[in-house]
Amino acid sequence: MKRMTVLSMGFFLAACTQNPPISNQSVDEKTLAETRSVATQLVSTLGATLKKEIAANGVASAIGVCNVTAPEIAASLSQQTNWQVGRVGTRARNPNNQPNDWQQAALKTFAERAAQGEKFEQMETYSVSQLNNRPTLLYAKAIGLQPMCVQCHGQSAQISEDVKVRLQALYPADKAIDYNVGELRGAVVIVRPF
Ligand code: HEC
Repeated sequence: MKRMTVLSMGFFLAACTQNPPISNQSVDEKTLAETRSVATQLVSTLGATLKKEIAANGVASAIGVCNVTAPEIAASLSQQTNWQVGRVGTRARNPNNQPNDWQQAALKTFAERAAQGEKFEQMETYSVSQLNNRPTLLYAKAIGLQPMCVQCHGQSAQISEDVKVRLQALYPADKAIDYNVGELRGAVVIVRPF
């Protein structure tokens, strides 16, 4: 009961503040599949680049992949598609990656679905909203924490000193630590007029 109230409040707030009212227009399967594919592309490109850099030059050096390359990949995908493509965190490292109200509500449902046993790999949610007089898809795809991620997002003991120093210098307000493997870390988020 309490859960329901908080959840509907999330959607209520999303509808009243940052986002325009959610329309009841549905989205066709092709639009959805294209959007999903771009979200997956962001995750896989980033994961592969990160793995390669860690193997070649170590974790501290790979911070550059997340600090510079991650926003670049997202920007390049946004440019190619003319959509807004990005990442948000349940606790953000970069303050630019804080979820808006709709995204916050999406993360909340992801955490609840995970608690029911659903896997993050296929987990997504979306709504159709009216933005600038155009139907717009608001889309989120869950990102779970994998073993390699703890080197930069895990418990204090799992993060080496040189990595801590570098993260602290780049992100003085870092909240994206103390995550455990299998926990919801955030989401790929896309805003797409169609
Ligand atoms: C080498 C260190 C490093 C590793 C390993 C790493 N991250 Fe990150 N992560 C970062 C940094 C730095 C940022 C901030 C990026 C920015 O400024 O946009 C970040 C940001 C994020 C964000 C965006 C939200 C936020 O907090 O700003 C998500 C989501 C995320 N990481 C998920 C993951 C996942 C999942 C993994 C494992 C597959 C992972 N990260 C591995 C360093 C790392």
